[in-house]
Amino acid sequence: MAVQISPSILSADFARLAEAAEAVPNADWLHVDVMDNHFVPNLTLGLPVVESLLKATSMPLDCHLMIEDPDRWAPSYAEAGAQSVTIHAEAAKAPVRTLRQIRSAGARAGLALNPATPVEPYEDLLDELDMLLLMTVDPGFGGQKFLDMVLPKIRRARELIDRCGGQVWLQVDGGVSETTIERCAEAGADVFVAGNAVYGAEDPARAVDGLRARATRG
Ligand code: DX5
Ligand code: ZN
Repeated sequence: MAVQISPSILSADFARLAEAAEAVPNADWLHVDVMDNHFVPNLTLGLPVVESLLKATSMPLDCHLMIEDPDRWAPSYAEAGAQSVTIHAEAAKAPVRTLRQIRSAGARAGLALNPATPVEPYEDLLDELDMLLLMTVDPGFGGQKFLDMVLPKIRRARELIDRCGGQVWLQVDGGVSETTIERCAEAGADVFVAGNAVYGAEDPARAVDGLRARATRG
């Protein structure tokens, strides 16, 4: 299970996103939090900014859509060239159709679950997914405290994924830092989003290396 690190630009300077990408050449992905002020109480960026960012960096974009109508908008992110597009199970009305549209546009398809959403009802959907994202905070803001209550769900998700072939990546997002990443890795996560822990650090690239080293040990 290869560890992957996906720094979240939510904690970077929004006036300097291209520089934020350049600051982490050792990362695997750049995590882009799209928020619409409806699904979550915060507003960030949308498709035009993602399109500009795709031109400004060669780093693959991991787009996390925290929006109310992902069925309508998600395929456009994949068509624009985002390499991974994740929708929320709580928001999608036709997740199978939307996940298939993401894949047929050439992107990896992800499904995100909030901390209070159980994973078991989504077991039958695993074949439709390239990545399952388990939120380790309630979505909306960076810099929140990691929720340990999600750890048993990470373990259960890992078991479900392994039972169906182990192809699906298991991502965690929220409060992931040098002090919490080992717990997530030990529970079975393999893709780690980190906002504050990377862009709040003096040297973001070094922070990525530090997180990777700890996750590899976990
Ligand atoms: C929160 C976002 C996260 C956020 C994580 O709703 O989905 O991606 O940027 O930030 P940290 O790592 O600071 O908790
Ligand atoms: Zn996110």
